[in-house]
Amino acid sequence: MEPLALAGGPKVRQTPWVSEFQGVEDIGQEEKDRILGVLDKKRIFRYLARGYEESEAYQLEQEYKELTGCRYALAMNSGTSALISALIGLGVGPGDEVIVPAFAWIATVSAVLEVNAVPVLCEMDASLTLDPADLERKLTPRTKAVIAVHMRGISCDMDPILEIARRHDIVVLEDTAQANGGTYKGRALGSLGAAGCFSLQQYKIVTSGEGGIMVTDDEIVWQRAALYHDCGRNPFHFHELKVPTFAGQNYRITELQAALCLGQMERMQQIITNMRTQKQQIVQGLSGIPGIGMSSVFGTERDLGVSAVFMLPDAQTAVQFREALEAEGIPCGVVYSPGQQNLHIYPFWDFLMDKRDAWGKGHPWSSGMYAGDVQYSRDMCPQTLDLLGRSIQIRLNQYVRQQDTEDLVTAVAKVADHILK
Ligand SMILES: Cc1ncc(COP(=O)(O)O)c(C=O)c1O
Repeated sequence: MEPLALAGGPKVRQTPWVSEFQGVEDIGQEEKDRILGVLDKKRIFRYLARGYEESEAYQLEQEYKELTGCRYALAMNSGTSALISALIGLGVGPGDEVIVPAFAWIATVSAVLEVNAVPVLCEMDASLTLDPADLERKLTPRTKAVIAVHMRGISCDMDPILEIARRHDIVVLEDTAQANGGTYKGRALGSLGAAGCFSLQQYKIVTSGEGGIMVTDDEIVWQRAALYHDCGRNPFHFHELKVPTFAGQNYRITELQAALCLGQMERMQQIITNMRTQKQQIVQGLSGIPGIGMSSVFGTERDLGVSAVFMLPDAQTAVQFREALEAEGIPCGVVYSPGQQNLHIYPFWDFLMDKRDAWGKGHPWSSGMYAGDVQYSRDMCPQTLDLLGRSIQIRLNQYVRQQDTEDLVTAVAKVADHILK
């Protein structure tokens, strides 16, 4: 057995690992032409009174309707804006509790607080997504919604989530920011719940730097979200407004963002096909290594392959393993390390843990409209912390090739041979 690189042995991999980004790596002529086209047209604002259907943003919404099969789509300036507008659209607000997985992104929980609702944390399971059994335990008479977050390109187990939601009459909002283009049992992510939100930020599968999309089949949800995203104004003059107006924000997308994303949409399926193929090979290679744990969901339809994650027997071993694997030339991280901030994990959502608002008034928990008494603590979701504390993550993208997957598997097998004895 060759010594570990950490102990002076030869490194498995000498060349740099692939980029941490996906869609942005493919920006090319298509995107450039589309951006220049917008500048040439001198139409950089979406809602001009005329030629509405010629706008890039409108075209982008058509693409998302087609991708998801939903009747309505609304493009916005970020995934966070999309989540907030969707919650408003769904009627979630003061007095309501919203169940959010303990592994998400800080924006998911912020969005809930922005609509004056109270987040209730729920464990994730080994799939890295919301644990349906814990969802059921976290329901109260005040639960209005659950946000199913499709983390790291992996879709939540939507069947049990939808079944629980139906039984308890709560709405499901899909946070599809990290799983753009994914499917669950052949159905597009974002289309399974009452509404779905996508992010187009730089780290995402397709990107416009910043941007977001909400999709829904419900005209009222769409109209309420549309009002909210445009200062309480009805931006769609040709549609009869079926809801009363109320104050909103300015979450409008620019034509430049929309054009860039339209270019990226042409690449989406190829990016996903490449990532899925490589991920299947990685999962196959890693599953033969004793001591390396993986969810049965990894490498299946439910996994877009944006990262390789595997679990070790305990957190201490994971720390040692990470150091040794990095030394072999495979950049990686332990997903949860207590001293290392990772805003995907709830103990680092300080304002939530401390029930802190922008004004020092403990809103919305202190609001007279909230009848519950939810408590937070940094150890309240032990299953999530245990799993993430034992999880090693390696970033992947569409440019992972066979040599890369072989290096990855060889390096993990070598480190496992030394450390997991
Ligand atoms: C799970 C999740 N939800 C929401 C968001 C928010 O998206 P954005 O950064 O576009 O506001 C992100 C991305 O950053 C995310 O990863």
